[in-house]
Amino acid sequence: MPSGGYEGIVDADPKHLAVLLAGEPVADLAAAADRGAGEAIALARAGTPGEVISEISLSRLRGRGGGGFPTGRKWAGIRDAGPGRRFAVCNAAEGEPGTFKDRALLRHDPYQVLEGLAVAVAAVGAEAAYVATKASYAQEADRLRVAIAETTAAGWFGDVPVTLVLGPDEYLFGEEKGLLEVIEGRDPLPRLFPPFQHGLFATDITTGWEATDPAGAPGLANPTLVNNVETLANVPHILRRGAEWFRTLGTDGSPGSVVATVTGDVARPLVVEVEMGVPVGELIELAGGPRPGRQVQAVLSGVANGVLTAPMLGLRLDYEELAAAGSGLGSAGFVVYDDSACPVEVARAFSRFLYVESCGQCRSCKFGCGEITRGLEALTAGTGTERDVEVIGARLRSVTDQVRCYLATEEQIVISSMLQRFPEEFVLHLEGRCSKEQARPIEAPKIVDIVDGVVTWDDKQPRKQPDWTYADPP
Ligand SMILES: Cc1cc2nc3c(=O)[nH]c(=O)nc-3n(C[C@H](O)[C@H](O)[C@H](O)COP(=O)(O)O)c2cc1C
Repeated sequence: MPSGGYEGIVDADPKHLAVLLAGEPVADLAAAADRGAGEAIALARAGTPGEVISEISLSRLRGRGGGGFPTGRKWAGIRDAGPGRRFAVCNAAEGEPGTFKDRALLRHDPYQVLEGLAVAVAAVGAEAAYVATKASYAQEADRLRVAIAETTAAGWFGDVPVTLVLGPDEYLFGEEKGLLEVIEGRDPLPRLFPPFQHGLFATDITTGWEATDPAGAPGLANPTLVNNVETLANVPHILRRGAEWFRTLGTDGSPGSVVATVTGDVARPLVVEVEMGVPVGELIELAGGPRPGRQVQAVLSGVANGVLTAPMLGLRLDYEELAAAGSGLGSAGFVVYDDSACPVEVARAFSRFLYVESCGQCRSCKFGCGEITRGLEALTAGTGTERDVEVIGARLRSVTDQVRCYLATEEQIVISSMLQRFPEEFVLHLEGRCSKEQARPIEAPKIVDIVDGVVTWDDKQPRKQPDWTYADPP
């Protein structure tokens, strides 16, 4: 069993919750069965799909892929959508910068994820299931390959085939409309309609100009369920221990645990499972807090939510509480910047990541992210003018016009929040100055691995070009 890279990344403090990351990594299906794996499938088969969905709804589980969408409502929507085949997909693409939790979960116990998928298959009536991860996540792909073979042989999926799909490194591979494209053998260019309206192998002409209907039969939208690794991992525990047990954990609106990643300017980066409701500052302390003599200046939850500043660290891990403060939980990948980091440089790095990863199908997104990045590059280079700031402001307003996915909204939210929270830093840069004595270069925090408190960052990402090619190493 692969274990390298896992040790030491999970918090061992007993006061912090361990449900999904409990105990030692699970070696094989027999070891998983010793912990109760398979019981949730038996329970699901003993009940009706409606009963299973109702239990998940009662638990108030929310999707851990970033959006926090209520899982029970999503499952019911897929089951009840119009005519067509049904498919279920586990999103294991984990592309959000600052996030490593899905890989930690897959290394720890892929069986609970597959059991959640098997329950979902039964609940929505899927005829095939897919697990999509990155080809470059070799360790997780190996674990999944073995676990899929073991669990299908054990009858977990009945006669429903489960396919492991290995996709590209692009950020948009994790976006659910891009993910379905990759499963169908194309590039991760998000389609127009969401998976419940334009599912896998759809033949409904209303769902996109690429849809075909070779048989000449009435078109079918094939509503498709897409759930994140951590969302599915929660499912067997909810069925075994009950929705009520789940709701005793966390907060009213955000029950359960959350598997958080804490990296950046902290003493000991880690992946840790905590109860929802833990304050962000406490989570940062679990990672050893800021380095000696330093203070937390900015915390970003992936590249999708408004920045948190030091006075906001009392906010709790709760979807509503963070959203009300202009931020969000996202996929709980918290990247900490201490007071030695230049906020304008942080904004530039995040904007460049989104510009490079934008697929270019929507002009306002690619063009807007590009212009904002160029403006921020001028500011950090000390050559920025009032005109650059005007352009940044204008593009932040228009970047989301007529777009087909949420990437442009991420640009709008993150960069606007940096401008709002650190206005004086931007003004200083207009004068060619910086408040930090020796501002260090910042890159988008794309994680390759975390071992014993040491993060390996993706050193290819800074060379990635807006057309998704890579510049030669210097
Ligand atoms: C640009 C972008 C990238 C995304 N990347 C991921 C990802 O890597 N993994 C993931 O689970 N969800 C990702 N999502 C969210 C998915 O589109 C989708 O909402 C999620 O898989 C649904 O699962 P859930 O309901 O269990 O959260 C991304 C969304 C966007 C807009």
